[in-house]
Amino acid sequence: MSGLAFAYPDGHQALFGVDLTVARGERVALLGPNGAGKTTLVLHLNGILTGGAGSVTVAGLPVEKRNLAEIRRRVGIVFQDPDDQLFMPTVREDVAFGPAASGMRGAELEARVRTALERVGMAEFADRPPHHLSFGQRRRVAVATVLAMEPEILVLDEPSSNLDPASRRELADILRALDVTVLMVTHDLPYAMELCGRSVILSGGTIAADGKTVDVLSDEELMGTHRLELPFGFDPRAAAAKA
Ligand SMILES: Nc1ncnc2c1ncn2[C@@H]1O[C@H](COP(=O)(O)OP(=O)(O)O)[C@@H](O)[C@H]1O
Ligand SMILES: [Mg+2]
Repeated sequence: MSGLAFAYPDGHQALFGVDLTVARGERVALLGPNGAGKTTLVLHLNGILTGGAGSVTVAGLPVEKRNLAEIRRRVGIVFQDPDDQLFMPTVREDVAFGPAASGMRGAELEARVRTALERVGMAEFADRPPHHLSFGQRRRVAVATVLAMEPEILVLDEPSSNLDPASRRELADILRALDVTVLMVTHDLPYAMELCGRSVILSGGTIAADGKTVDVLSDEELMGTHRLELPFGFDPRAAAAKA
């Protein structure tokens, strides 16, 4: 994205000229305080939000109306709130929705759905209504709906929030195993450390830092300025040495 600026219809400006390039195969953490504009930025990556200044290009395609169908096949976004992602009567139908919309049918579709649900440990919930699941389970199903599309770019908005420790660990294993480009919004700084070699801080709608995760997290002044706090006792340099 280049010079991306965006104001909501009520006039509130959320992004003020963001320049950010993520290379193919990179895993980048997007950090920043509440209200920094992280979700607003994410929603530009497949054209859910448009109309501001600047430009966004994904997989070589400008994010414009004529490219949106193609871009949405290639970019999977796991929304901050799983309830924005799940709307079918059963988990199975929600996970099947995207692949079915792109023409997949029958045994191939069934296998695709089963694999995606197995990956997030939710296969046995296939016939349940999503709204009967816990928040953490709905989050995992939301991840499955995106994995089922086999996107080449995966964007996750606070994926580990409200996950129990085992689910958080399993999601990290999934993300590490996928050979895709990842942009992950997170407040979970050890998660960023573990999964993303590079971190970007967005604060007040502008990029405040962009560097190696270990360097960003070790910069106490930078972290304090942008309301980022490491968990008690967490030492990014020690974590980097262990990794
Ligand atoms: N639909 C909306 N209308 C008006 N302002 C909004 C809307 N959504 C978010 N904002 C505002 O835009 C700013 C950035 O929000 P957001 O991108 O959600 O931040 P973050 O994800 O970093 O917490 C905040 O000040 C927020 O209040
Ligand atoms: Mg957000």
